[in-house]
Amino acid sequence: MESKINDLKQKLAQAHLGGGEKRIEKQHQKKKLTARERIRYFLDEGSFEEIGVLVTHRTKDFGMEKEKYYGDGVVTGYGTVNGRLVYVFAQDFTVFGGALSETHAEKICKIMDLALKVGAPVIGLNDSGGARIQEGVRSLGGYADIFYRNVQSSGVIPQLSAIMGPCAGGAVYSPAMTDFTLMVQDSSYMFVTGPNVVKTVTNEEVSAEALGGASTHSTKSGVAHVTSANDIECLEDVKRLLSYLPQNNTEKAPCLPYEIDDEIRENLADIVPDNPNKPYDMHAVIEGIIDAESFYEIHKDHAENIIVGFARLGGRSIGVIANNPMFLAGCLDVNSSKKAARFTRFCDCFNIPLLVLEDVPGFLPGTDQEWNGIIVHGAKLLYALSEATVPRVTVITRKAYGGAYDVMNSKHIGADMNFAWPSAEIAVMGAKGAAEIIFKREIKAADDPEAKWKEKEAEYAELFANPYSAAERGFIDEVILPRNTRRKLIKAFAMLENKEVDRPKRKHGNIPL
Ligand code: COA
Repeated sequence: MESKINDLKQKLAQAHLGGGEKRIEKQHQKKKLTARERIRYFLDEGSFEEIGVLVTHRTKDFGMEKEKYYGDGVVTGYGTVNGRLVYVFAQDFTVFGGALSETHAEKICKIMDLALKVGAPVIGLNDSGGARIQEGVRSLGGYADIFYRNVQSSGVIPQLSAIMGPCAGGAVYSPAMTDFTLMVQDSSYMFVTGPNVVKTVTNEEVSAEALGGASTHSTKSGVAHVTSANDIECLEDVKRLLSYLPQNNTEKAPCLPYEIDDEIRENLADIVPDNPNKPYDMHAVIEGIIDAESFYEIHKDHAENIIVGFARLGGRSIGVIANNPMFLAGCLDVNSSKKAARFTRFCDCFNIPLLVLEDVPGFLPGTDQEWNGIIVHGAKLLYALSEATVPRVTVITRKAYGGAYDVMNSKHIGADMNFAWPSAEIAVMGAKGAAEIIFKREIKAADDPEAKWKEKEAEYAELFANPYSAAERGFIDEVILPRNTRRKLIKAFAMLENKEVDRPKRKHGNIPL
């Protein structure tokens, strides 16, 4: 028996070495942790249980039968994060560059299947040269097996992807179908085709970093939801993100203990400037409302005219969507509509109530927006909010103009509680523009057109640049003092805790894509 035990120990020791000391050293030189180091850091100490440690590939082509590594380039299993069960796979770049073979894919699928049956999140730590070139279509089939499972799990269990090295070609589509993609600054990149192919096909010269590095995807494309400075921070970010989420779509997110102590927030009254054309940072309003230091922003540097992220309010996990007048005056455009729509749908899948903070002068005008399909993309947000059945509360801090008023979680599209600050202006458009259109002839005929315009502007403002016309009709449930916002919201979300909505039976809706 002893020799058999030693044999097993030797095999396991070999497995733990992955592609060997030299390649581990190379990984460290790139300031990257190995797959096993990442898992060790990520999970609660001693909680990891590995599955499939002795799996090897089955390829015989290109002399591959002589080069086998236990685990076949991916470490898979389960463990806990802050005591909560998660399934994890970490690609091991030291084994064939973490390239995905048939068996590597089978290992990932195995834990995905378990996670779906049990109802717990799957976290993928990606670091891979893509499809295992020696395996041809078998590895492509492996990708598709994963993609299929990504889709079956979507909206049932949270799926998070950390990109901690290369992620190219077919490999990008699994992260793209998971709920959140986190990228490590400077050591990760994602692209469908790399710089060499780009050069051949389009003659463009571009570096891997510029084409698909973390900065590119967290600003321009929006493919990355979160960027982290290094491996450790990335793993911390995944843990933090998990803390706001339930285990699956039948559960609610964990609620932290909360003491009633600071519900009146006087400084909220000082944020919105008197001049309606002056910008202010909506982050200050968010911070002024939520539990201290609880805001975790998603897509921080992409489409900054809308802010989305998770927060806690009275200990409850909520999703926040907020126009930010600091960028594009807070207008809705193509990117911000897509960003907020996707976030809305995530929260709705996983029973996370939504808070919408509104200061929106409308949709961004221009050929760029129209030609890029603002009609369809704006409709995504309208659709996503209209279909959401989680508790939904809106606070209008200032502008709520035009169609954007309808879109931003208005009462008409199913919001549960709609509040407005006394500074709210709920109208078809700003008073100046409105006066110019509806009083055009009077202004033109006046002895002093400028004075007439001002007079008519004031008339329109008096009627509509306030929350009262909407409140009279019940489109606003209550006009509240800014200082009371936190208290009102805590109570509103508590009141809505057991909200249930039935929808007509259908296969699925047809969101404008
Ligand atoms: N299939 C099989 N082996 C692969 C591989 C793949 N797709 N990608 C990398 N490898 C192997 C390399 O042969 C090398 O093996 P070795 O350790 O025995 O020398 C090891 O992984 C590390 O690769 P290397 O090229 O030395 O690392 P790098 O950091 O310099 O470059 C990549 C990383 C990903 C840019 C580069 O390996 C690459 O371009 N791979 C191919 C990407 C691709 O086109 N994939 C298919 C598209 S789906």
